[in-house]
Amino acid sequence: MTEQITFMNAAGRMIVLAGLICIATLPAARAADVNAGKARAAQCAACHGPDGIAVLPEAPNIAGQVEGYLVKALKDYRSGARKQEQMSVMAKGLSDRDIENLAAYYHQLPAGGQGVAH
Ligand code: HEC
Repeated sequence: MTEQITFMNAAGRMIVLAGLICIATLPAARAADVNAGKARAAQCAACHGPDGIAVLPEAPNIAGQVEGYLVKALKDYRSGARKQEQMSVMAKGLSDRDIENLAAYYHQLPAGGQGVAH
């Protein structure tokens, strides 16, 4: 009887532990990767500048922009809901993951510029 209870407790702990491991690893796997975004952003720098401050007169500054807004803008260019020749071409090659990473990267850059020397 006690053995059975001990076994049940051990099994119960294993289940709780497995659950905790899932909870602990899930958000980490889902979180956007700023470094991957930075690597991707090399192809954006010609227009949006290496620090997210535009170097083309018609391109917007995107450093420090709200993350969700950046994700939506890029998905809208990709889907065609928002159209602009250069951005529609750029966004076509981006996966959801690329978009999340790029948004996280530009979001954490200081809105005033000069934010890439780290
Ligand atoms: C050839 C120049 C060029 C390149 C390269 C480029 N962009 Fe753009 N981007 C623009 C222009 C011009 C606009 C303004 C488009 C419009 O009027 O909708 C823009 C708009 C945006 C916007 C919307 C900003 C806002 O305030 O609504 C985001 C976000 C963006 N670009 C991100 C990126 C990312 C990320 C990359 C790299 C994957 C990239 N761009 C590459 C020229 C460029």
